Amino acid sequence: MRMYDIIMKKRNGGELTKEEIRFFVEGYTKGEIPDYQVSALMMAVYFQKMTENETGELTMAMARSGDMLDLSAIHGIKVDKHSTGGVGDKTSLALGPMVAACGIPVAKMSGRGLGHTGGTIDKLESFQGFTTALTRERFIDNVNRIGIAIMGQTADLAPADKKLYALRDVTATVDNMSLIASSIMSKKLAAGADAIVLDVKTGSGAFMKEEHDAIALAEEMVRIGRNAGKKTVAVISDMDQPLGYAVGNALEVKEAIDTLNGKGPQDFVELCLTLGSQMLIAGGKTENEGEAREMLRAVIRDGRALNKLAEFVDAQGGDSRAVYHTELLPQADLILPIPAPVSGVVSHIACDEVGICSLILGGGRETKESAIDLSVGLVLCKKVGDYVEAGQPLAMIHANDPEKAGQAASRFLAACTLDEKEPERAPFIRAILS
Ligand code: URA
Repeated sequence: MRMYDIIMKKRNGGELTKEEIRFFVEGYTKGEIPDYQVSALMMAVYFQKMTENETGELTMAMARSGDMLDLSAIHGIKVDKHSTGGVGDKTSLALGPMVAACGIPVAKMSGRGLGHTGGTIDKLESFQGFTTALTRERFIDNVNRIGIAIMGQTADLAPADKKLYALRDVTATVDNMSLIASSIMSKKLAAGADAIVLDVKTGSGAFMKEEHDAIALAEEMVRIGRNAGKKTVAVISDMDQPLGYAVGNALEVKEAIDTLNGKGPQDFVELCLTLGSQMLIAGGKTENEGEAREMLRAVIRDGRALNKLAEFVDAQGGDSRAVYHTELLPQADLILPIPAPVSGVVSHIACDEVGICSLILGGGRETKESAIDLSVGLVLCKKVGDYVEAGQPLAMIHANDPEKAGQAASRFLAACTLDEKEPERAPFIRAILS
């Protein structure tokens, strides 16, 4: 079998066989097939798409590219959660500790930033010393001891996705339904949880801009999960503007901490309660959504969720003092307002552009090897539907380089539309597929 023939077959719109899919996944994982050939194949998949069968085979080949974790040593029903990626999406940082504080074991595998979206691992590294490179023994032990552990992909777990993910990030091949579904589900299957709750985003900041595409992606992932014998639920939520106000690694960690202190933005809190209640139901804590939401609110009110975050950070080598003293998180040197050019109601924010502003400031990777600046990003002052006076700040930029700050500010202004009247808005939670 030759990689060249596989690329040409897909380029010409053919359906790859199980053997062809396994050949390129195994060859790429072992380093026998170079990046440039896999980049070409990813671009061919991007344009020609994959069938349901191909997507299923790709998922299983990637899940089996390393070890499949056996989590049976963890007591209780283990629940994992994964987002399809968004801007300002700091959900796991608050939701993980909330759910763990309610007594459901959270055994989660997370990723780094991808395209214009941020990644949980990068954000968590805002805690000095924090590591997601856990051995499986430590991962299992942490979940048993404190109820939560988050690991990154190691050489053992879904290594094919780890390599493909980094390659897609820098070759403009992220936003393809089959590539997203197989990337997410291969990790989830390899990580061995019993139940999976998927946070599928739709809108200008999501990879699936249209709601019908997000629903199709959710259906595809739920089908893959079910076929693998996992309880799988998908929540489809709005990503037509950043989630919460903060965009950028350490800034988002701070907003997640504020949320666990009971001071979270309304949309973010709603998302945590919706996903969290699905996790508690999947974990067998209750069958009643209202009761699940109340349990989640209670662990915020009495501080258990915040303390759980500190325990979790500590258990993974991070400086947990920053949970209670957020000034210890990385801070940018410059904090500059972006004033509104005219008065009006914010009627639209091109959300992917806001993600790109954070990348311009240094918050994301330009190449696979780039280091990122954890301190930079933006904090919105106004969201869609809010009125702003000319000259008032639309957002604050956190930067370490004045030139990059200027570029990001212009791009942010171009991404915002100010109007005379309130825009019509779709509901924040669009659907739940279970
Ligand atoms: N999250 C992932 O893990 N993979 C993708 O392809 C997109 C979002």
